[in-house]
Amino acid sequence: MPRTISFILNGRRVTVEVEPNELLLNVLREKLGVLGPKYACGIGECGACTVLVDGEPVLSCLTLAVDVDGKTVTTIEGLAKDGELDLIQKAFLEASAIQCGYCTPGFIMVAKKLLEENPNPTEEEIRDYIRGNLCRCTGYVNIVKAIKLAAEKLREMKEKKIQ
Ligand code: FES
Ligand code: FES
Repeated sequence: MPRTISFILNGRRVTVEVEPNELLLNVLREKLGVLGPKYACGIGECGACTVLVDGEPVLSCLTLAVDVDGKTVTTIEGLAKDGELDLIQKAFLEASAIQCGYCTPGFIMVAKKLLEENPNPTEEEIRDYIRGNLCRCTGYVNIVKAIKLAAEKLREMKEKKIQ
């Protein structure tokens, strides 16, 4: 039987009717028009569908929509503020870490969590953290550069705020 769920999506409460076996990725894309999280493998192996649920990265292709009832979901669409891209999005552009862009929302959501946990990650730590995300175009070098660049900019911003 369908069930009505309600959650905060990118800062706005949404209420939607879902089937008990409906996946979060499909609900976001097909019922709520949120197209940032991508469908690629559909079996939890590529990370293209990554979103944050209560701040934690989850694979929306493996998450039941009913499980986010009452929670907070952030997708790539929720990062820009007042029309200005988030610092990590800007770093991906600056480091040319995007080619076809299909994997990019997933990488950026994971990078967001990484930099919250570890503001100064080494290259090895970055590569380890993004190991669940696949990119068929870039060879990862510029993605790692972009995350390092975002980390630097975030640290600079924090230092300015302290002064
Ligand atoms: S589409 Fe979800 S992990 Fe690949
Ligand atoms: S930029 Fe094309 S898959 Fe990553």
